[in-house]
Amino acid sequence: MKLYEQLFDELINRIEGGYYPVGSRLPSIRALSKERGVSISTVQEAYQRLEESGYTEVRVKSGYYVRARGESPELPDVSRPVQRPLEVTYWDQVYHLLTGSDSDGHIAFGTAKPDIHTPTLKPLLKALTNSAACTSEDFLNYSSMHGSKRLRKQIARLAVNSGCNLHPDEIIITSGCQEALMCSLRAVTEPGDIVAIDSPSFYGSTQAIKSLGLKALEIPTHPETGISIEALEMAIEQWPVKAIQVTPTCNNPLGYTMPEGRRKELLRLAQQCDLPIIEDDIYGDLYYRSPRPKTIKSFDDEGRVLLCSSFSKTIAYGLRLGWVAPGQCTDRVLHKKFISTVSSPPIQQEAVADFIENGYYERHLRVMRQQYQQARDVMIDLVKRNFPEGTKISFPQGGYILWVEFPIEVDSVKLNKLLESRNISIAPGVIFSASGKYRNFIRMNFSRVPDEKIKTALKAVAEEARNLMLEETVPE
Ligand SMILES: Cc1ncc(COP(=O)(O)O)c(C=O)c1O
Repeated sequence: MKLYEQLFDELINRIEGGYYPVGSRLPSIRALSKERGVSISTVQEAYQRLEESGYTEVRVKSGYYVRARGESPELPDVSRPVQRPLEVTYWDQVYHLLTGSDSDGHIAFGTAKPDIHTPTLKPLLKALTNSAACTSEDFLNYSSMHGSKRLRKQIARLAVNSGCNLHPDEIIITSGCQEALMCSLRAVTEPGDIVAIDSPSFYGSTQAIKSLGLKALEIPTHPETGISIEALEMAIEQWPVKAIQVTPTCNNPLGYTMPEGRRKELLRLAQQCDLPIIEDDIYGDLYYRSPRPKTIKSFDDEGRVLLCSSFSKTIAYGLRLGWVAPGQCTDRVLHKKFISTVSSPPIQQEAVADFIENGYYERHLRVMRQQYQQARDVMIDLVKRNFPEGTKISFPQGGYILWVEFPIEVDSVKLNKLLESRNISIAPGVIFSASGKYRNFIRMNFSRVPDEKIKTALKAVAEEARNLMLEETVPE
């Protein structure tokens, strides 16, 4: 047996024995070569074989990581929403999720919050403190309605990573992505209009649709390739759709990232039917691999796409800092921004501009992408091992959100109620649909690599789901 083969077998034993758990990083090639007294090329050869055999994956500039073994998770089926325009419901469930317990020790699987307890955010805290301590009255003044020029320049610079050539003047700073979506919807629709959306869909955008007196037309969506263009085309033929709204990259909650070809097809369809696309890119910079996918906006040379995003998922939600690049609709969106909040507070804008200008944002992203990918692998492994047989799960390529489909007997609204007494919450699937679909689905957060507390909570979710299944099958 050759040396690298011996090393390969030994590493497999270590991985299978749990010495190198799923999501952990293997020693660097240099370190292992030193530890074993073998050449660099022997370790390289063994590592390459591990990767080819599916035990590990390479992460750029970081090293080899242990992958969840076995087949990739069984994905949920293509969604089959009710295909007619509907009024959005379920605000009470959304309210419940957003105002749920934040008591000590509460495990909030349901929220889509990033990890904000990371040292890579320290320079931002410093920049915020410096801004707050600054005696300049500028910080007490209105920011311009477009928002800080310094920040818009940085956003335009970063947009190049997603293939977008944006001028800072094409960008409007908003109070989070929610305001960006709201202003965009208001700019392209009138009450009573129909908006086509992917399904399941983020409850914030469906609630915006509800509040503007619009109707949601949910389109079947594939867990890997996104909204079905074929179904969308048929829906547009049948109904007077006024806008299309999608989250094509690291989708919340389904996890899909639309392939580039499908993005172009979607844009082509929007061009043919002369429809605007509201593209929500809030998780785009959290795509695990590099380069990140190009936005639909990057292929749009007519200004038909209104690109919405924010720093809520990449940095922190408390900043309430987002933006929109509305293309042709800039004047209308600017007016909606004016009647909504006039302008966004200057302190956060300058602090974040400082954070980005000094290279801290990109460093922070590099660290967080790795953390989230590692957490995804561990989380998927745990869900596969603990949740009831027949459970299906998404396989996100970025971000920190998992979409879980339980067997049909598990009612996720009931599950959430049962978990309340155990100080755990999940996001029930019904809030991601206008028609109350996805009752046996939940959305779960994995922004931190699961520790013992999270693992115990996950087992509690599995246990209560099993109890619900038993209740459903016990004869009367
Ligand atoms: C897909 C998506 N869009 C928009 C938002 C709203 O973001 P913000 O907190 O920046 O308003 C969220 C937040 O959860 C989201 O998941």
